[in-house]
Formats: sequence, structure tokens, C-alpha cells
Amino acid sequence: MDLPVEFIAEIKNIVPDFEAFISSFDNKPSRAFRVNTLKVSDEVLLGAMGKREAVPYAEHCYYLGEDEKWGNHPFHHAGLMYMQEPSAMATLSAFPVKGGIALDMCAAPGGKTIALSGMVDCLVSNEVNPARAATLKGNIERMGLKNVAVTNFFPSEIEKYGEIFDVVLLDVPCSGEGMFRKDETAVREWSKAHSISCVARQKAIIRSADKVLKRGGTLIYSTCTFSKRENEDVIDDFMSEFDYELVEPRGTVADFTAYLTDRRMRRFYPHLASGEGQFFAALTKRGGGESKPPKATKRASDKEVDAFLLDTIGKTLPYSEHNGIFYVPALPFELSGKVALGGVRIGRREGKVFKPDHNFFSAYGSEMYNFEPSEEELSRYLHGEELFGDRVGYGAITILGGAIGGFKGVDGRYKNLYPKGLRRNQ
Ligand SMILES: C[S@@+](CC[C@H](N)C(=O)[O-])C[C@H]1O[C@@H](n2cnc3c(N)ncnc32)[C@H](O)[C@@H]1O
Repeated sequence: MDLPVEFIAEIKNIVPDFEAFISSFDNKPSRAFRVNTLKVSDEVLLGAMGKREAVPYAEHCYYLGEDEKWGNHPFHHAGLMYMQEPSAMATLSAFPVKGGIALDMCAAPGGKTIALSGMVDCLVSNEVNPARAATLKGNIERMGLKNVAVTNFFPSEIEKYGEIFDVVLLDVPCSGEGMFRKDETAVREWSKAHSISCVARQKAIIRSADKVLKRGGTLIYSTCTFSKRENEDVIDDFMSEFDYELVEPRGTVADFTAYLTDRRMRRFYPHLASGEGQFFAALTKRGGGESKPPKATKRASDKEVDAFLLDTIGKTLPYSEHNGIFYVPALPFELSGKVALGGVRIGRREGKVFKPDHNFFSAYGSEMYNFEPSEEELSRYLHGEELFGDRVGYGAITILGGAIGGFKGVDGRYKNLYPKGLRRNQ
């Protein structure tokens, strides 16, 4: 692979075993996936996919062969798995935060958000780019996550919330040097000037993060670039101004990485482990304070919604309403402004009729009547066709026990509720 001369000049003296590093660019990128344990166990999914090697530092994560294609497979449609680059799995494995309210400031398409949602009580998953925020929302719905709200703010717009988060994850936009093997555009578009412009953005983003992190909270910073100026230098610059302390990463992850200036800031290299380039560090906030969270979300009450909940999952849930859409809030407080997803959407009223939402079947499918179709029936379902069965009322279509979508049973027919935009065309 032809790498930019200026990039090589910059990196030559900072990478251990430079010759092996350069040779690694001729190898194929490494691929992996995470099992969505909200919907299926590792054992059941691997039983169906075939056994494979576990990513040694990340729970529920496994490598994929270079030619394996799962993107259009029913397991993927049902959110049983999420494809993620193996080194990107290392960041959150290195710093196992537990509980509290988290913010993922640069979240799309959502790999790290999905991992983080399983570690904390609730999460605001933010993405500045509207199209990418839509993809993020789709991924969160597919995985059936209940504790994630999606927002579409510029980082400085989030500052208004004050110091309310226990964890802030910053997987910041960067010059992408670590992705050269996967993405030729990243090689073509690389320039020193672009890397320098990334630093300005990174410094602004990390300062916005400080404004919303509580005292004692954890700030996790990561990039997919090797550039020292975008990694260690950004952290050093930040720590020279703010009262933070670096956190020791877990040994099981650190063993697969190297470091440049401080052993607590880790670098994942493609010639030292199976994966692309990644940098990560975590810091504990020593100064600052704690702000009062925004006001609690107002609860709604609606007879049709209550009846629907009782019919499907046999109980009611606390829910809210926004613009005619009923949802189970992901957060204990209300976010105003650019909120793309406030929690799990139950459905909306159209006149007197209540229309349930796909999001509800994906997230709460395990709690309702399940219909596990044959392979032929599943294919018909994914193409938008009706199935047949005895259930009267709503239920979830499942695969390996994980809900892919909903149906409504009437007169022996299962009306297909899988959204048109997600259906298979052929
Ligand atoms: C490295 S990607 C995030 C990947 C994501 N964390 C994941 O695991 O799937 C960085 C994200 O930052 C967003 N971004 C770009 N400019 C930004 C800015 N000025 N402030 C915040 N985010 C920005 C990009 O749109 C992109 O989605």
C-alpha cells in the first residue's frame, strides 16, 4: 500500500518495530462482531453461526473470517449481532465503568454506544451529523436497547446541561490513520494540515466534555489515528489546564497494546494485535462539582396505550408522550431540543387507532407472545409478507429467541409489522 510520505516521516520514530508495522498494511483488515446478549446468548448464536475465536480482551466479541458476510442475514436484521472493528472493542474493555448516567458525545454509527449501554444505567448517545444520527438511531432500535436516548447536538450545545454525567465517552473525529488498511479514502484524504485541523476540533470537544462531567466522573478519549498530536498531545494539553488524573487500563487489554509517553495512554497497532489502529485513555475528574439534572420527564396516560401494553406484555409501563408519539423514556430526566429518540417508542395514535411501533417489538419482544418461524416463513416475513397462525392480537417474530419485529394476528393471519424501509427487496 502506498502511504503518504509525510505520514511515514511523522510516524517512523514513534512506532515500535516500524518494518513490521509497514508490512502489516499488506494484510487484510481484521473483522469481528459483538453478540447482543439482550437478545441471544453467545452459546446459542455461535451454535447457529459456527464456532469462532473469541476476541481475548472483549467479552461477547468474536473474530470474523475475511470473506464472511452477515450484513443482510436475519441474525443481523434481528439485532443479534453488531459488526465492530476489534481494536475499537478494546477502548471500553480497558475501562470497565459501572452504572451512572453516561454521554457518548460522538456516537455514530454506534459500536461503542452499544457496548457502553450495557455498562451504565442510562446513556445519551449524541451525534452531530443528522444523517449519521439517523443510522445510530436505527442501530439502537435494531439492538433493542432500552436505556439509550439519541440526540443530534453540536458538542458545545450540550454544555447547557451542566455537570450531570458520570461518564463521558469521546470517540472523536480524527485523521483516521488507523483506518488506512480498511479505507483507501482515508489514505487519499490524509494531509498534515487536516490532522492539525482535527486537533482544534478535538480540543474543543474535550473542553465541552469537561463542562458536563461530574467531579469524580470518568472521561474516556479515543481515536483511530496514530498521530501523537491528536492523541497524547491533546490529553497533555487538556491536563495542563484542568484537574484530571489518568486511569490505569485493565491489564488484559493493555497486554495487546503499546504506549508512547505514559503507560496509561494505550496504542493499538495492527502489527502487534489483530485489529486496526486505535488510541485510548481515560481520566478521572478531580475538580468541578455536580449539577442538578434537568426536570423529570412528564408521564402520560392513555387508555389505548395501556390496553396495548396489557395485551402484549401483560403489564403497563411508565411512559411519556411527545408530538403524539408514546415512548418509554430511556433517561430519568427530560432532554429538550434536538432529541431523535427519547427512549423505546411504543407507538402513536392516528385518530382513534393506536399504531404500535417497530421499536417496541424489537426492545420488548422477549416479554410478549413469540412466534419462531421456519426459514421459509422468516424469508417471507423479511420481504413483508403475511404469515399464518392461531394467535389473536400482537406478538413478536423471533429468531434464535431474539425479536426481529412484530405482527398482529387476526383470523389466522399474521399481519406483517416489519417496517417497509427495513424489508428485504429480493
Ligand atoms: C470516530 S466516529 C465515532 C464512531 C462511534 N463512536 C462508534 O463507535 O461507532 C466520530 C464521529 O464524530 C462525529 N463528528 C464530526 N465532527 C464532529 C464535531 N465537530 N463534534 C462532534 N462530533 C463530530 C462524526 O460525524 C462521527 O460520527
